[in-house]
Order: sequence, then structure tokens, then C-alpha cells
Amino acid sequence: MTNAAGQGWTGDATPRPPKILIPKILILGGTTEASALAKKLAGRPEIDVVLSLAGRTAAPRPEPVATRIGGFGGAEGLARWIAGNGITAVIDATHPFAARISANAASACRVGAVPLLAIRRPCWARQTGDDWIEVESVAACVPALGEVPKTVFLTIGRQELSVFAAAPQHAYLVRTIEPVGDALPVPRLTELRARGPFTLEDEMRLMREAGITVLVTKNSGGAATYPKIEAARRLGLPVVIAQPPVLPDVASVSDAEGAAEWLVEHVAGRARFPSRQGGGERVVSANTLSASAEPGPSRR
Ligand SMILES: NC(=O)c1ccc[n+]([C@@H]2O[C@H](COP(=O)([O-])OP(=O)(O)OC[C@H]3O[C@@H](n4cnc5c(N)ncnc54)[C@H](OP(=O)(O)O)[C@@H]3O)[C@@H](O)[C@H]2O)c1
Repeated sequence: MTNAAGQGWTGDATPRPPKILIPKILILGGTTEASALAKKLAGRPEIDVVLSLAGRTAAPRPEPVATRIGGFGGAEGLARWIAGNGITAVIDATHPFAARISANAASACRVGAVPLLAIRRPCWARQTGDDWIEVESVAACVPALGEVPKTVFLTIGRQELSVFAAAPQHAYLVRTIEPVGDALPVPRLTELRARGPFTLEDEMRLMREAGITVLVTKNSGGAATYPKIEAARRLGLPVVIAQPPVLPDVASVSDAEGAAEWLVEHVAGRARFPSRQGGGERVVSANTLSASAEPGPSRR
């Protein structure tokens, strides 16, 4: 039974607290930043969190928040999902090279007038001693390797490996999380299945033992995979490095900490009570929720 304002009310003497509409945050993930943010937000009663993964990794690390897996069906599908699941704000914490989902998030949030924040890690910057050949995309790494056969440490993930089939003269050491399968049909391929973070010592040992003559990587930024860049510098190896794609111009912070602060300031500090007057809601500060002055509805 409910009272006139639609609030829970069991009848004679047992008032229930008013229903609180908790902000519900969608984190678009697949990165260390998304995992870090999920850990920060887990278990906070004033906020509801759903982490979304594309499903590229067969056994993703378990996260301490509700997790959904799989595409949404483009920008329109994402907009429908956001509306259908009552999402209050979206955090785009996807990888800097995941340009499509970032574009979809920008479009869907614009359509649905839902606040969007992106976590954009700074790219790695060239340091003294780095021998970088910077190119505009992963595909452009292939001609940058040149015609002379090399031993290539390929650390670009699995999805775009096939472009290197155009350069079968090289030997490839390919490090991926998922099996390479038939993604790169070249005569000399060594597969290494591993998930970062990696240490500088291990990266140097690996490159030395494998006789690597060039590293190929995306300029993904972040600390987790930076040791390979430092290892190449110390070993005097050239690095063919793909620059990230242009991403939508949206509000952004550089890390999970910044995203958590933004959420507190813009979203989680506001929880909604259904209006007593009906038709609409009113906003209260989350700080006041636990000690809310809202008594259960009194009988008249
Ligand atoms: N690209 C990389 O180098 C890289 C590296 C590490 C991690 N990742 C992570 O792997 C995922 C896929 O990367 P990508 O480069 O393939 O992305 P993408 O090209 O931007 O996205 C392709 C499609 O995958 C789906 N998708 C991507 N991220 C999703 C997410 N978090 N939740 C639900 N669906 C998602 C979307 O499908 P629908 O259109 O059907 O919604 C999207 O249109 C991303 O979440 C990214 O954070 C990527």
C-alpha cells in the first residue's frame, strides 16, 4: 500500500522511509582505470554502479561491482540501454584506442542528456634516449618497419594483428591476452600470452632473450605497460609507436581518482526522492541521506 505521494506505507502504524532513487553510474571499461574506479565506488550505498566490458577477454578479472558484458548495438543501442536502465551518468573509461565506443558514448549521452566524463590518460612522451618512429595508426606501423627482416616485439593487442601479414619477412614475438589463433599468418611467429602490468626487469630480459630488434606498440599511456618503452630505451632499440586516434571532445580527467571526485561533485552528491507533490523529484545531498530528516510519512 502506498500513500498519496506514492511512498511506501504499510497501513496502521509502520511507516517506511521514503524511496530514494540512487544515482546509477555506467562505467565503460576494459582498462586499469575502469577497474580502479570500480574498486573505489564498490560498496558505497549512495551510488549504484554497472561496469560494462566489450567481451574481448574470455576470462576478465572479476570486479567488485555489477558487470555486464557485450556490445550495446552502436550509439543508438547504447542510448536505449542508458535510458532503459535509468543511468544517471556515464564514465567512459575505455582504452585510448577504443575510438568507436567513445564516439558512441558521446553521441548517446548527448541524445539522452546524460552527463558524461571520460578518463583520458596522457600519452607517453618521448624521453631523452628514446629512438621512436611515430606513426598515425597501427596499420602505418607496417611500412615503418622497412623491408629488411627484423625481430619484432609486437604489443598491439590481437585485433589489428592481421595488418602485419603484409610484412612476412619479419619474425614476430606477439604478446596478447587472448590466443593469436589465425590472426597473423606469417612463417615466423612466437606467441606469448600474458596480461600486464609488467616490470622493467622482465621486459628487458624478454627482449634480450628473444633477440628483439624493434618494438611495435600503441602509444597507450599509463604506467602498467610503460616498462617496455623504458626497456627499449635502455637496450637501445627502436620503437615504432602508433599515436592514438582523435577522441570526442568531452569533459575529461586523467585518472580514476579524478573521476571519483567528479562523481561526488556532480552526481553522487545528489540523490533523488520522489516528490511528495507527485510529478517530479526533488534533490537532496547524499551527505544527509543516512541522517535524513525525512521521517516516514505520518498518518493524518
Ligand atoms: N583497443 C585497444 O587497444 C584496447 C586495449 C585494451 C583494452 N581495450 C578495451 O577493449 C574494449 C574493446 O576495444 P575496441 O578497440 O574494440 O573498442 P572500439 O573499437 O571502440 O569498440 C568496438 C565496439 O565494441 C563494443 N564495445 C567497446 N567497448 C565496450 C564496452 N566497454 N562495453 C560494451 N561494449 C563495448 C561496442 O559495440 P556496440 O557498438 O555493439 O556497442 C563498440 O562499438 C574496450 O572496452 C577497451 O576499453 C581496448
